[in-house]
Amino acid sequence: MPVSQSTVHVINHLDRDYLRQALEADVRTGLTASPKWLPPKWFYDAAGSELFSRITRLPEYYPTRRELAILQARAADLAVACGADTLVELGSGTSEKTVLLLEALAAAGTLRAYTPVDVDAVTLESAARRVAGSFPGLDVRAVCADFERHLALLPRTGRRMVAFLGGTIGNLEPDARGVFLKELRATLRPGDTFLLGADLVKDTGRLVAAYDDAAGVTAAFNRNVLRVINRDLAADFDPEAFAHVAVYDARHDWIEMRLRASRDMRVRVGGLGLIVDFAEGEEMRTEISAKFRPDGLREELVAAGFEVRRRYTDPAGDFTLVLAGA
Ligand code: SAH
Ligand code: AVI
Repeated sequence: MPVSQSTVHVINHLDRDYLRQALEADVRTGLTASPKWLPPKWFYDAAGSELFSRITRLPEYYPTRRELAILQARAADLAVACGADTLVELGSGTSEKTVLLLEALAAAGTLRAYTPVDVDAVTLESAARRVAGSFPGLDVRAVCADFERHLALLPRTGRRMVAFLGGTIGNLEPDARGVFLKELRATLRPGDTFLLGADLVKDTGRLVAAYDDAAGVTAAFNRNVLRVINRDLAADFDPEAFAHVAVYDARHDWIEMRLRASRDMRVRVGGLGLIVDFAEGEEMRTEISAKFRPDGLREELVAAGFEVRRRYTDPAGDFTLVLAGA
């Protein structure tokens, strides 16, 4: 019997004009604020995604390995519990861990379609093609979109499991996280499920090491946002003049990544007609990475209208996967 071909479609909601306007608005807001800040989604051009992939293989960066271990142990349970024929994945990146979920859904006999969703079009498309090549007959509809803005535009056919892996939920500010969860809940129909991966509160030394590795890969990832702004908004940041800073804020339960100016600097952002001064030692926040307590996470999901059905952690208790129903 011939093996049926998989199909790949790429839908792009982030055309050049949209991206440019969104970047302009975020950079203007963040660089004119006091203290200055930048949103983390701008780390992820092709170079930033590659740096993130390197981070996931660092000895200090445990989340990817821990989540992978949970999926290896539990993907079959999850597949049966969700009964999904369509996997929608937010912030899918290289879709590496996702393959375990797809294999489990295929083994359960339900898998029909996969929709990876990411802001980085290059990484999205190559991951979509790689996955399609491994799953004959799979209908792959990759969507280049911002999950904070475009949830309503995602395909709604089939019985869906929406996966949000890697702990990326922790990169949203708490208010934005609440809004995101409610908006996502509103797009789900009876029978759909939400699979959420979240990093857990743990020893501060391990947390800081995970975001300040000895090889300096996270530092390069952090500075990449300045390279994106230089290239796309004709700015003249000297990325090497900014030191990578990772601190744990125990009051908020989050890691904060910052870039600290090593000297007084005047930066021109040509595309915005903006001049920005940095004082020596000034720190600009580039990311939060929230760490969760299991009960707090459950409460946030319930507050957004989800019903928590399954909760798993790895044996060390570092990371959690939660399956919630609509
Ligand atoms: N899910 C993968 C990748 C995590 S890295 C894993 O678990 O390893 C975070 C991913 O989310 C990146 O691929 C990045 O491009 C994407 N991303 C970040 N902000 C986004 C947004 N607002 N909308 C869509 N994708 C986003
Ligand atoms: C994508 N996200 C979950 C990563 C994290 O751990 O917050 C991004 C990252 N930032 C520094 N290292 C990894």
